[in-house]
Amino acid sequence: KPDLVQKLEKTIQNIPDFPQPGIQFKDITPIFLDPKLYEEVIKDLADFSRGKIDAVCGIESRGYLFGIAIAVALEVPFILIRKAGKLPPPFVGEKYDLEYGTAEIEMRTGQLKPGQRVLIHDDLLATGGTTEAAAKLIEKQGGEVAQFSFLIALKDLHGTERLKQFDAEVHQILEY
Ligand code: PRP
Ligand code: MG
Repeated sequence: KPDLVQKLEKTIQNIPDFPQPGIQFKDITPIFLDPKLYEEVIKDLADFSRGKIDAVCGIESRGYLFGIAIAVALEVPFILIRKAGKLPPPFVGEKYDLEYGTAEIEMRTGQLKPGQRVLIHDDLLATGGTTEAAAKLIEKQGGEVAQFSFLIALKDLHGTERLKQFDAEVHQILEY
């Protein structure tokens, strides 16, 4: 296994039965105690996207932790995708289904320019519901979903299958 993967496996903590019984929660916060490791993560994620994108969209809130650093490293704009109700108008939204009920994400109108190639970044790909909604939001505004990147993908939840409709490259550093 690559050195970075081994280091992250040692650093990320598995918390059983959080936030619900049966869920194995991956706590990424120890990464931020180790600035050198954080730099290596950003280098990996930035290398994947270098020369291939015009903007990074990061998903609230853990998608901001790495997303903004990727954008700065590549000298491209960073655009926030927020959970509903936080952004002032004008904004565009996209609803999506959760296990129980629905959720919505929003973006300021006009920050993404039509035709821009976008990286959608989040810390974790689980069911893919959040990321799929983000991609639809980009397409609605005339953006091109060029890439997805994640720190972690949870294989058993088949999020990657759900992203195939977008015909974009997918990268994750770790799989569980
Ligand atoms: C988690 C995670 C991803 C999303 C993945 O975020 O950070 O954004 O869930 O799930 P999915 O692939 O099944 O849609 P969460 O909503 O817990 O919020 P947070 O990032 O603000 O902690
Ligand atoms: Mg999140």
